[in-house]
Amino acid sequence: MMAEKNLIILNTVIVTPLGNRALKGEEMNRLAVVSDASIVIENGIIVYCGKAKEVPQKYMKANFKIVDAEGRVSMPGFVDSHTHLTFGGYRPDEFAERLKGRTYMEIMENGGGIQSTVNATRNAHFSELLAKSEWFIDRAVEMGVTTVEVKTGYGLDFESESKMLDVIGSIASNPNRKLNVVSTFLGAHAVPSEYCGRTEKYVDYIINEMLPAFKEKARFCDIFTEKNVFEIEDSRRLLKAAKNLGYGLKIHADEIVALGGAELAVELGAVSADHLLHVRDKGIEALSASETVATLLPLTAFSLKESFAPARKLIDAGCAVALATDLNPGSCFSGSIPLTIALACIHMDMTVEETITALTLNGAAALDMADETGSLEKGKRGDVVILDFDNYNMLPYYVGMSCVRTTVSDGLVVFDRMKNNY
Ligand code: NIG
Ligand code: FE
Repeated sequence: MMAEKNLIILNTVIVTPLGNRALKGEEMNRLAVVSDASIVIENGIIVYCGKAKEVPQKYMKANFKIVDAEGRVSMPGFVDSHTHLTFGGYRPDEFAERLKGRTYMEIMENGGGIQSTVNATRNAHFSELLAKSEWFIDRAVEMGVTTVEVKTGYGLDFESESKMLDVIGSIASNPNRKLNVVSTFLGAHAVPSEYCGRTEKYVDYIINEMLPAFKEKARFCDIFTEKNVFEIEDSRRLLKAAKNLGYGLKIHADEIVALGGAELAVELGAVSADHLLHVRDKGIEALSASETVATLLPLTAFSLKESFAPARKLIDAGCAVALATDLNPGSCFSGSIPLTIALACIHMDMTVEETITALTLNGAAALDMADETGSLEKGKRGDVVILDFDNYNMLPYYVGMSCVRTTVSDGLVVFDRMKNNY
């Protein structure tokens, strides 16, 4: 019988960053490109990746599933290292209000925004949240995502945050799951209405009740560090407590106002500082001297009609930049990898090579998983996308459209466009 996770991709052009850590500054431009190549995956792990004529004989004889890429590009599966894809309800009317000129923060300060999704999520049944999350995950797989991070943050009380973690955990542990799921606890996404004006008390509640109880269910702890939400002192207090319990740290930093979230992320050794639309020069300097990944979310800036994060400045200063979607029901209702690529290349002046590194190896590093996935190398997980084309420059050129023909996750084909014929 053919072992399930054994696969050979023949006749391909390998395009991949290399290494077990985030690539910084000009390293981000360095991709390995190998034509006339093969990739061999055994039990879900890459055991050979390189010139076809050098494939070890033993694999040629083995009974592996074979995919002939017919000269097309194979690259690492995309890592979407920042999403909020588990939530109740939608907010289309708020979006329409924003189109008329109301700002995101105005809506939030008037009880809309995150709080309205919190109300819907608290009322939603577990199975409803699960089905909706899986729907978003299927869409991601079609776009070549093989690792996705999912945050809580729409429960904001013990019971509802716990329900969100169980939804995420149930997707992550499903033996039929199509990709790898990483969960992040974002109890500090907003101050819920019942704690209005008592931010410190809400932070105490998170630290004393939620953080210790959720440690086994979440790998990371995140916070929305923002003016009038959780300012620097509250953020430091909460993140330090999380770190002491063994959580990895992530921060929504300098998204709307330049508060110093990037500097705090570096001070506390966070794996990533995310958003950074308004990062200060001091923050860029701190990031460049650190291991903290600067995760940029161009779909959010686009949806909010804000200026994009200073990707060029960050990379030129020597930072490690990752890209992710930020899929959420408010500031960015899009999980589009193709549009993320187009915006990075067209509006953030990132090269195609930097963009690929940012969505693969550096995304993996932003989840502390660069030794497991994010590049096509012996020993890494068999997470591969095969494009429809033989040239990776098609990725931004085919604006906002997916170039993914096949998605392979853990050595299994989880999406194949050519099989969707009716
Ligand atoms: O990453 N900034 C805070 N959190 C989300 C938005 C969540 C929402 O509006 O529901 C973000 O942009
Ligand atoms: Fe976010």
